[in-house]
Amino acid sequence: MTPYSERRRRVLQHIGSDGIAVVFAAPEQRRSNDTEYPFRQDSYFYYLTGFDEPEAVLILDGAAQTATLCCRDKDPLGEIWNGFRYGAEAAKEAFGFDEADSVVRWRYRFAQAVQNKRRLYALWQLYPERDREVMQEWHAVQQSAGRGLQNASSAPDNLCNLAAVLDGMRLVKDGHEIGLLKKAAEISAAAHIRAMQKTRPGMDELQIEAELLHEFMRHGARFPAYNSIVAGGKNACCLHYTANKDLLRDGDLLLIDAGAEYRFYAGDITRTFPVNGRFSAAQKDVYEIVLAANEAAIAAVRPNADWADIHQTALKILVQGLLDLKLLEGSVDGNIESQAYRRFYMHGLGHWLGMDVHDVGKRWHDGKPVLLQAGMYTTIEPGLYIAAADDIPEHFRDIGIRIEDNVLVTENGCENHTAAAPKRVANIEETMRG
Ligand code: GLY
Ligand code: MN
Ligand code: MN
Repeated sequence: MTPYSERRRRVLQHIGSDGIAVVFAAPEQRRSNDTEYPFRQDSYFYYLTGFDEPEAVLILDGAAQTATLCCRDKDPLGEIWNGFRYGAEAAKEAFGFDEADSVVRWRYRFAQAVQNKRRLYALWQLYPERDREVMQEWHAVQQSAGRGLQNASSAPDNLCNLAAVLDGMRLVKDGHEIGLLKKAAEISAAAHIRAMQKTRPGMDELQIEAELLHEFMRHGARFPAYNSIVAGGKNACCLHYTANKDLLRDGDLLLIDAGAEYRFYAGDITRTFPVNGRFSAAQKDVYEIVLAANEAAIAAVRPNADWADIHQTALKILVQGLLDLKLLEGSVDGNIESQAYRRFYMHGLGHWLGMDVHDVGKRWHDGKPVLLQAGMYTTIEPGLYIAAADDIPEHFRDIGIRIEDNVLVTENGCENHTAAAPKRVANIEETMRG
């Protein structure tokens, strides 16, 4: 059994003998005229198949307990232009499906399998065009039943959300996934080290992005997990800055939020360091607050921990720090109550990480936070962003700092998979000197 066939087995078990599920590959996306964006398989589809071609459909039949892949046909001429494709027969063998067929017959296959089922599971709204096709087939079966045709089959009367099943599975990573996440984290950490070593005043942000991509690719990560943020000086106060086009100036900080995608699994690291290799006193003051929040939050990650408590732990450190720097006035609790801190810290402490950088899975369930359990994988990413303004002392203006790590919840506590990327002031300065 592969991890993929094991996951299909679990889904088949879940949907039961009167259920059917259908999952679609990602579509190709046009970039310009007749060129496409690099193809990225849909995370759900890949999670269940390991199959990396567009124009494919997975049908899980709960009654027969079978998985059927419908995929592109072999095409010798097309393959000369656009590369290898498996075709149904070879895909069935290579990926261990029970049955396989041409994608041109997926609707027929689906129409057969949907008959006499009670529940139809799909990832509704992910690909609306596919929803319409699924509903057309479902409707056709329903109508034939409604007309009382001889031997008419019934159609499912429950349209069920497959995401509710798969998100729960994807939330707790299996051994195969943890290995890949660890590798993505290691590659991402190596890229941050390279960026620290290469950065000099007078370079521009794009040149540093090139260093990150170079390191990702040479370790086998073809793509970044998301658009890299390489933000010098005030650009760091824009949370999703990805233009990466400005000069890096002596005396400024550089915030880099970048992670590799390795075999469909994401790294997501942020480090912030001085362009010239030495923190100023004011930069260091702010940096140490964010670092303390990052370290305290990571130390609190363990099974049964409540995410809201971890968030609160980090928040109190950040708010106390802002009070110490006289950027806020009053008490810690008062500032948390009034949310005055949001001027300087306006995002959450972290998110699940997996095949998607903002991975699926609930943080809350029935109004209560989901308690952490072994196999969950989260970022921890506190930050402070002090945009220039008249009431901000000059030496704090345009300082934006975030420190982000990738943390696996283990049986006894947690593992920080991105610890290799330096984050203590002395270690960063030493890395930059090296
Ligand atoms: N890189 C996106 C994030 O940290 O959430
Ligand atoms: Mn993140
Ligand atoms: Mn990030």
